[in-house]
Amino acid sequence: MTVADAFDRIDSVLNRKPFENADKNITPDDHSVEFENVSFSYDGENLALDNVSFEVKSGTSLVLVGPSGGGKTTVAGLIARFWDVQNGAVKIGGVNVKDIPKEELMNTVSYVFQDSKLLKRSVLENVRLSRPDATEQEVLLALEKAQCTDIIEKLPDGIHTVIGAKGVYLSGGEQQRIAIARAILKDAPIVVLDEATAFADPENEYLVQNSFKELSKNKTVIMIAHRLSTIQGCDNIIVLDNGRISEQGVHGELLKKDGIYNKMWKDYQSSVSWKVGEKNA
Ligand SMILES: Nc1ncnc2c1ncn2[C@@H]1O[C@H](COP(=O)(O)OP(=O)(O)O)[C@@H](O)[C@H]1O
Ligand SMILES: [Mg+2]
Repeated sequence: MTVADAFDRIDSVLNRKPFENADKNITPDDHSVEFENVSFSYDGENLALDNVSFEVKSGTSLVLVGPSGGGKTTVAGLIARFWDVQNGAVKIGGVNVKDIPKEELMNTVSYVFQDSKLLKRSVLENVRLSRPDATEQEVLLALEKAQCTDIIEKLPDGIHTVIGAKGVYLSGGEQQRIAIARAILKDAPIVVLDEATAFADPENEYLVQNSFKELSKNKTVIMIAHRLSTIQGCDNIIVLDNGRISEQGVHGELLKKDGIYNKMWKDYQSSVSWKVGEKNA
């Protein structure tokens, strides 16, 4: 993805119709996330989610995996209320997201997009978007925690370099790390991470995973994983297939079933050994 593409995409996200104001003004008292019999369709015809229910307790983590088109990104978007469900309810701390004031909801949830959006502004301004009153020192610390030190070092004017300026190229993984710095600075209690589908190189992937770990500390985490490399310690895993939950449990339990997760794990294992074999060749 080029930087120009990223700008087009940020445009489409910023132009998305903002959600309606809250029906009531209720503040949640914890940071659990619950889907209660949620069905959702983008076009009023095909169900992207079909009667999905799960709960992520405050301070715990959920990983969503499964085939492309299964509904993972849709789940992520519904938590941040980019769309409203047609059936069922999405709740935070037991409160329907429709009843949480807009400002409150925005401060409660950080969403790191699959294709992270950066503006044609300096790195400093891009990170500061999430907290305009943050000092330069706070921004630098967030960048450091998000494993962005190598990016800043190679940019001609450090954090003052304008992204997308002539000759300034950032890979998808690098852009995602800067978006993670933005989320770290924001420090919202619920983080939704939609992992990038492809990384330019293993180093990038490793750094993105480490920055996710920093962002996730002491938070309620919903992570969409495209690779199984980091999810073994996770509290709960859901396999979404065709808009439905097809399997749910921890890594060990899911491995024992002869289902999608088991197959994904075998594919992942063989890709790892293939990489090792390649190195030794
Ligand atoms: N903006 C959209 N408009 C219409 N259909 C969409 C849109 N986004 C996703 N879909 C459809 O919803 C279903 C679930 O997609 P998605 O949540 O993106 O799956 P995943 O992230 O697991 O690949 C798919 O059938 C997809 O084609
Ligand atoms: Mg997706």
